[in-house]
Amino acid sequence: MLKIDFANCMAERVGNHGLDAAVMDPAGEAAASIAVAARKLAKTRGTGWERWRDLPFGVVREGHVRAVRGVVERCRGRFDNLVVLGIGGSALGNIALQSALNSATYNLHDAKGRPGPRMFVVDNVDPAYFGSVLRLCEGHGGLERTLFNVVSKSGETAETAAQFMVIRDLLKKRLGAAYGANIVAVTDPAQGTMRKICDAEGFTTLPVPDGVGGRFSVLSPVGLFSAAMCGIDIDGLLDGAASMDVPCSGEVLATNPAALLALLLVELGTTKGKTNHVMMPYCNGLYLLADWYRQLWAESLGKQVDLSGETVYAGFTPIKALGTTDQHSQVQLYREGPNDKVFMLVEVGSFGDADTAIPTGLGVDAIKYLEGKSMAGLLNAEKRATEFAFVESQRPNLTIRFPRVDAHHVGQFIYLWEMVTAYAGLMLNIDAYNQPAVETGKIATFGLMGRAGYEKHKAAVERTLTPTRWTV
Ligand code: PA5
Repeated sequence: MLKIDFANCMAERVGNHGLDAAVMDPAGEAAASIAVAARKLAKTRGTGWERWRDLPFGVVREGHVRAVRGVVERCRGRFDNLVVLGIGGSALGNIALQSALNSATYNLHDAKGRPGPRMFVVDNVDPAYFGSVLRLCEGHGGLERTLFNVVSKSGETAETAAQFMVIRDLLKKRLGAAYGANIVAVTDPAQGTMRKICDAEGFTTLPVPDGVGGRFSVLSPVGLFSAAMCGIDIDGLLDGAASMDVPCSGEVLATNPAALLALLLVELGTTKGKTNHVMMPYCNGLYLLADWYRQLWAESLGKQVDLSGETVYAGFTPIKALGTTDQHSQVQLYREGPNDKVFMLVEVGSFGDADTAIPTGLGVDAIKYLEGKSMAGLLNAEKRATEFAFVESQRPNLTIRFPRVDAHHVGQFIYLWEMVTAYAGLMLNIDAYNQPAVETGKIATFGLMGRAGYEKHKAAVERTLTPTRWTV
């Protein structure tokens, strides 16, 4: 199991910047409110927008795994490249899984050195970036041997729609009538623009299940298909997620890791002014999981109004950092700048065979202490040293410990943070599942790009942003 050490969030370690021990009192107010929240979540699980909780279990899971494996089997050996087209919740989980569970050099190996095709997630419409990926695929197997995995619940997201239109056109010109064989779409099973396109063009599809929002969808075919294509153990991932459900559902604060994390972060954020929440893995592979967490934490909790309609401006700013790299870039600020952060250090117990011994024999006094030690030993000593340094400057911090990085523990981490978010949403009394503020920019883009019916939005943009004041 993942383990969490939160001692450095308490006042006895970091003085007035931490929480009083009374917060943890089993007979106290916080413990009682956690019990109420756990009971609420037991009632709402599997309903409304909380259907993500069903993903690791029963018929939902079996249906998804069977469908994903079926498509993967049909694609086996036919493709050298897999290009995922999606954005936000339709991309960040895919990126995180690949980076956590396959090697950093995965794409650079020849076919024998990796368990699946090269994998790219193009989660932007930057034409230089998109073009460079397409050119690489052209030069390595060609479009004929490139599978495009279009992930869009709605099909109306401008970025993904534009990418899809480009690759559809390219594939049609190259492959003629058979172009659809190079597209697998993950979309709403029953409705939406992408569903209509898929039905009309006969693409293979996998479902984004009903009641599962983008940022909670990584354990659905949204994340599972590209992961399985690249040899990731999706059952291990789902088993790990499932194993977090019971602990995260318990009514006792001290033994419920999700409730505990939510309580620490919400309390530190709302009563101690620690409104920036830095996730800092000491493991390159886990760095992009921190990107996935950023969306989950930001989009779910950043809300202007609460459930009673009161203006609250809720939310915390999630930040990602990498240990030890950012010790040499950010820690000066983190220790001596504004004391407005909680640090969540993520540590890996064992790097297994990957660990490297630092040889003896150089014999230079200043660095002789490193001789005979291991790289992982140094990494974890630096993490512990940073933890100490944070405590010295009264900066609240906690550690999440992976015994090792594998599909099981990554699945646990994902489900844990989804549950933390659900608890935090209840504590803040906000809707953790909507994202109303994202709409304004989307609608303005429709206007600027000439979508019929959105003319007044274009006019509003021009009115508000004129005149400009450029310099140089
Ligand atoms: O979390 C979310 O809901 C968003 O990030 C969406 O996933 C993102 O906007 C992409 O939407 P869609 O899958 O409809 O293209």
